[in-house]
Amino acid sequence: MRYNLPLFPPQASTVAPQVDALYYFLVAVSAFFIVLIFSLVIYFATKYRRSAPRRAAAVPHDNPRLELLWTLVPLGLTMVMFSWGASLYFDLRQPPADALEIYVLGKQWMWILQHPSGKREINELHVPRGRPVKLTMTSEDVIHSFFIPAFRIKMDVVPGRYTTAWFEATQPGEYHLFCTEYCGTKHSEMIGRVVVMEPVHYQHWLDGSRASTTGSRSSLEVRGAALFEELRCATCHKATLPGVMLGPSLVGLFGRPVQLQNGETVIADEAYIRESILNPAAKLVAGYQPLMPTYRGQVSEEGLVQLISYIRSLGEANEMRAER
Ligand code: CUA
Repeated sequence: MRYNLPLFPPQASTVAPQVDALYYFLVAVSAFFIVLIFSLVIYFATKYRRSAPRRAAAVPHDNPRLELLWTLVPLGLTMVMFSWGASLYFDLRQPPADALEIYVLGKQWMWILQHPSGKREINELHVPRGRPVKLTMTSEDVIHSFFIPAFRIKMDVVPGRYTTAWFEATQPGEYHLFCTEYCGTKHSEMIGRVVVMEPVHYQHWLDGSRASTTGSRSSLEVRGAALFEELRCATCHKATLPGVMLGPSLVGLFGRPVQLQNGETVIADEAYIRESILNPAAKLVAGYQPLMPTYRGQVSEEGLVQLISYIRSLGEANEMRAER
């Protein structure tokens, strides 16, 4: 109904109606107080105007009940805003476990989007309807920001680290994708579209694009495995002699807690693996020496994503074996 108003893009994700409801609540509260305050200002300005003198003695100096009222009512209202906003924020920050993983790379001035199958898109993102999609994002140069108004998601894309966002599209169609962080001359041209397809059509699209590029493309995992060989990671991370390994095993690593030299424990997520490749000494695994050289400058952001996918696949293979 509001689809033609640019202020109100379509609600095309599961969180969109919730975000809008909070937004309308904030607008309604603000509007109520604007009307109340301005009405009182005008009313009192008229009532106590200069031409109608009052006796100063009749002015009350304090009124505890009134003071309590204008303290407690705003407190209650702001606490509602806070708890509502916080719970929605936590929902928006935690992608469901079964989400489809998409890697997003921002650079001046385009979006590169990578599907787990290895399919790579530029300024276009095809996703299935009714399935959560998790975006793991980084930038090759400056700060960008990934914004899909119809899904009510926006997240900064920062060089040197991974940020995440997720959504679940509810309606097939095409939606705008914007960069919302000023990132240089062609910032305004750093736009794209998100195509939401029925799951069947999405599968066809994936299969079709795979068939049309036979041989030249492979999945992120396969390319990651090739890069893993090329960089000779296996020298330290795979046992050549039984029991002799210079670096920790990567099998079953992804998503698991890792005990560090300094006594801390971290979860081996995308950010941890990325950091360990670029700055190996930052989080040294307990029981190992700081022998690993940095791979900063040798692996591109896309290469990192491939390596992470490969390491992730080692973890998942292990999980499957464990379950059987
Ligand atoms: Cu990228 Cu603005």
